[in-house]
Amino acid sequence: MCPTSIHASSSSNADDWSPTSWRKSSIRQIPTYPDEAALDTVIDQLSTFPPLVFAGEARDLKSKLADAVTGDAFLLQGGDCAESFAEFHPDKIRDTFRVLLQMAVVMTYAAKKPVIKVGRMAGQFAKPRSAPTETKDEVELTSYHGDIINGIDFSKKDRDPNPERMLQAYSQAASTLNLLRAFAQGGYADLNQVHRWNMDFVADSPQGARYQAMAENIGSALEFMRACGIDAESSPQLHKTSFFTSHEALLLRYEQAMTRIDSTSGDWYDTSAHLLWIGDRTRQLDSAHVEFLRGVKNPIGIKAGPSISPDELLRLIDILNPENEAGRLTVISRQGAGKVHEHLPKLLRAVKAEGRNVVWSCDPMHGNVIKAESGYKTRPFERIMQEVREFFEAHDAEGTIAGGIHVEMTGQDVTECIGGAHAIRDEDLADRYHTHCDPRLNASQSIELAFLIADQLKPS
Ligand code: PEP
Ligand code: CO
Repeated sequence: MCPTSIHASSSSNADDWSPTSWRKSSIRQIPTYPDEAALDTVIDQLSTFPPLVFAGEARDLKSKLADAVTGDAFLLQGGDCAESFAEFHPDKIRDTFRVLLQMAVVMTYAAKKPVIKVGRMAGQFAKPRSAPTETKDEVELTSYHGDIINGIDFSKKDRDPNPERMLQAYSQAASTLNLLRAFAQGGYADLNQVHRWNMDFVADSPQGARYQAMAENIGSALEFMRACGIDAESSPQLHKTSFFTSHEALLLRYEQAMTRIDSTSGDWYDTSAHLLWIGDRTRQLDSAHVEFLRGVKNPIGIKAGPSISPDELLRLIDILNPENEAGRLTVISRQGAGKVHEHLPKLLRAVKAEGRNVVWSCDPMHGNVIKAESGYKTRPFERIMQEVREFFEAHDAEGTIAGGIHVEMTGQDVTECIGGAHAIRDEDLADRYHTHCDPRLNASQSIELAFLIADQLKPS
């Protein structure tokens, strides 16, 4: 199977949809490019570049996600808020991948069900912002929208949207994905390495010790299996893992350029990532983002914050998943700690009553941002944990399935979210605050969160 050019004809997508039909809808959150001709040149070039993922892989992810709808698998989606050109380094990719593996193994061990690993990686570059412009000393410039659109420095040169950045983003996504594929398939993810994934700065913490104890149990189980003749050679799943990529499909010209027909099925796929999601700020029923994603066959996500009504969510589900295909749609709830019980149950009830198949995932990050006294944007770890607990409680009460978690995290030892076992304080934030956008969980906080989820997922 090989996706061919965007000029071939499609058999099965909605008749009135095309990769450009979004351009007739209202578009939000994308700044205007000063040089339209330069933009068109880049888009023409991108349209001829190889796809980053294959349609068959996106279908594989969709069928795995169908198991998360019924509670037979659990989705773990995580990575940077915004990948950046400056922070691009193989060690960072490896460390984030490694922490995602650790989190997955903690959850798999407790839940006794597969954990589907999806990185906010290899393409998570474009950011919606609360204000279109930023003013300093009476100078007004476009807000920073992520490295694929403009630069973070407060200068006109950096802040004017520059289409050439899409080429660099594509290239960074391609090499990140290449390394992730190598790690997932080439032996790094071998379960016999489970001890080695524990990094020094995590090993000393309480959850590092808890992880080590679990790794020893897994090691004993593997030794037992080896004695019975089951090893990595006879069972490649002990040696390899599946790892998928995802990002917010915000920059629609880029996504359109990466959208191709799959020659096997005749369907359109956005080949920039396996899973694409629509942000909370661009999910209006008439929005260009909804129009674009309804026509591609990838698994897709939709963020659902406190402002979405049950009726609006059901209408969105109808537009995005008219065939009610399990695994096609993941609803990512992001209410904020203390607000879950007010907003989520009515959504759960409506979707259940209408028999709609969705994966319910919890993003405990985006409803829990505060400004610390020091001026840094942070997230208290306790509130993140609280939103996760409330998410599970709501599902328990409604008899629905908590199917996944969506986090902003990194494998680095950053100080961006306050709290956690290392008790990061407001005055520590300045030490290692490296994010290009929102504050991320560091490696130990990520593993601590994985243990909390593991406790919720344990079969009773
Ligand atoms: C994000 O996931 O980085 C994001 C901007 O989230 P939301 O759309 O939920 O605010
Ligand atoms: Co974010």
